[in-house]
Amino acid sequence: MSPPLVLPTLVGDAVRLRAFCADDVPAVREAASDPHIPLITSVPALGDDAECLAFVARQADRLATGTGYPFAIADRTSDVAVGHVYLGLRDLDLGRATVGYWVVRSQRGRGLAGDAVRTVAGWALTLPGVERLELYVEPWNVASSRTAAGAGFACEGLLRSWQSVGGERRDMEMWSRSR
Ligand SMILES: CC(C)(COP(=O)(O)OP(=O)(O)OC[C@H]1O[C@@H](n2cnc3c(N)ncnc32)[C@H](O)[C@@H]1OP(=O)(O)O)[C@@H](O)C(=O)NCCC(=O)NCCS
Repeated sequence: MSPPLVLPTLVGDAVRLRAFCADDVPAVREAASDPHIPLITSVPALGDDAECLAFVARQADRLATGTGYPFAIADRTSDVAVGHVYLGLRDLDLGRATVGYWVVRSQRGRGLAGDAVRTVAGWALTLPGVERLELYVEPWNVASSRTAAGAGFACEGLLRSWQSVGGERRDMEMWSRSR
């Protein structure tokens, strides 16, 4: 097991990236009702409050086991959680880290995902051993590819039948940003 991680608080133009807490259950509940987010994350589909709280607890486990940094994306002014951005470190020994993100539907289109991914990416590339950041985007997901592009990532190509999403094999674009 990797050593435990300490999550910093990162501040962007419009977001504050911080640890998840029990007060964030309403955001997790909204994400759980999204048609797409539960298919690509560990957010419980149509999760009740107990399942949403378990999701919050799992984020602390990721720090404890050293598998990655799970940030709640909070509105910088109100500190209300609106989403999640995750830096995964499973391939850190190869110099690579992965980035994943979602924002609840009611808060989309405000530039929050772009700000959050830009902020995390800039910080992540200062971490020892992180030479390259990767993220995967389905070709139809224009909102996500524009988020990635705005955060300095470039699309490198299409990975055919890369992963199962909702029980179906899906192609994924590989996006990266290097140190
Ligand atoms: C992808 C997602 C995180 C974007 O969140 P957001 O907070 O609305 O994004 P932003 O407001 O920061 O916008 C980022 C860019 O996407 C564009 N965008 C946002 N929604 C869009 C849409 N529905 N269609 C096209 N472009 C869109 C914005 O114009 C902006 O582009 P620009 O910087 O070139 O102007 C959000 O739609 C989401 O959570 N989707 C479901 C989960 C998901 O797909 N996660 C990513 C998996 S790879």
